Amino acid sequence: MVERLVVWLYGTPIGVLSSPNDREFFALAWLPDAARRWGDNSAILSTSLPIGDRFEKRPRRIKNFFDNLLPEGPSRAAMARMIRVSESNTFELLAEFGRDCAGAVSLLPEDETFEKDRDSGYRVLSTDDLRDELARIDVVPLGADPDDDFRPSLAGVQRKLLVGRTDDGQWSKPYGHAPSTWILKPDGNFPSAVNELTCLNFSRMCGMDVPAAELIDIDGVPTLAIQRYDRNGRDRVHQEDGLQATGFPSNMKYESDKGPSLRELSVIVNEFGNPNDVDELLRRTVLHVVIGNADAHSKNIAFLHQPDDVGISIAPIYDIASTVSMKPVDEFGKAREFSTKLGQFIDGIEDVNEVMYGNLVDEGVSWGMGRVRAGAIVKGFLDTAREAADANNTGLSEVLIERIERITVGR
Ligand SMILES: Nc1ncnc2c1ncn2[C@@H]1O[C@H](COP(=O)(O)OP(=O)(O)OP(=O)(O)O)[C@@H](O)[C@H]1O
Ligand SMILES: [Mg+2]
Repeated sequence: MVERLVVWLYGTPIGVLSSPNDREFFALAWLPDAARRWGDNSAILSTSLPIGDRFEKRPRRIKNFFDNLLPEGPSRAAMARMIRVSESNTFELLAEFGRDCAGAVSLLPEDETFEKDRDSGYRVLSTDDLRDELARIDVVPLGADPDDDFRPSLAGVQRKLLVGRTDDGQWSKPYGHAPSTWILKPDGNFPSAVNELTCLNFSRMCGMDVPAAELIDIDGVPTLAIQRYDRNGRDRVHQEDGLQATGFPSNMKYESDKGPSLRELSVIVNEFGNPNDVDELLRRTVLHVVIGNADAHSKNIAFLHQPDDVGISIAPIYDIASTVSMKPVDEFGKAREFSTKLGQFIDGIEDVNEVMYGNLVDEGVSWGMGRVRAGAIVKGFLDTAREAADANNTGLSEVLIERIERITVGR
């Protein structure tokens, strides 16, 4: 059992994490290097965990932030089984899998140091290796290999493999401290990879910041490959998701769970971000309504923290899908409907099919934006989206055009 974990950020040991009592609360003792490098009160780790804060008023925030680094659902359960602890044992899960996390944070036992070039690198995966990794994914999530010191964690419910990629495009497996640089998301019971890729490509056509992504085939399974925007070569770039930034626990990602609203995210952006990012938050909101993505919850938006910048910026787009166009089936092959209930409500509207132009403008106004500015952003994005939908020659074009027309008429 590990008693304490050192929190490393951008190669600096910033704090010591422990779980002294009944695992309900974590303690974080800041190390002097944190304030020395970034100053007291810096939000470099998280807007919800300023350096030097003793969290007396909000003791749950520490556990909330770190627990949000772990997967949810069956992947989390499988990781717990791998090390024979219960799923609720966040601390032990992080001790085992907290080395390659989202962003530039690594959690290491006290006797390990962060030497990024020591015993680290990538082993090329053959087609057969990749097939085997996929075959094991429900038992060994993320392609973890603790024996080879590949100890990764990444949030989310969907099954994933975390990999590297050689300069000539071959997939590889990190070992030691080398970061994973791509995420592979294979189809499960129903096709999601093509849908997600189409939505990412459409967003790019709308001028949005989207990571490189492609569709690959692993032993006949269509798989979305998306490049990690929180990696820069072998360096990690720090990010936190909307749930971490607002200090909520991982089981409150939907607004229906009383999780953060869009307005609460806008407060974070207004306080810590670039003013243009509030406009971007509104454009993203319009995008979700246009593609019919009801699953835009607070873990599906993230903020980047650059090491030399006191502020944050909205991370590129990820995990978007036209959920209204998906035809899911359960594990028995029975057709299911995706809920149209929004992950985050828009102007109080809960159904993605009921949000109209006026609701989008009012949502922006509720964040403190002037009505003229909010209107210009919504109209500007709908116009751009219409042009992109006309040019987007995919199975989704008709859905997109119909939705854009309906939203606009509904003003
Ligand atoms: N391209 C990327 N670069 C860096 N980090 C990413 C990228 N895509 C996703 N992530 C991170 O990984 C997490 C999980 O990814 P993603 O949201 O795609 O998974 P998911 O399992 O489909 O999620 P959900 O549970 O919302 O369905 C995200 O919350 C984000 O922190
Ligand atoms: Mg997600």
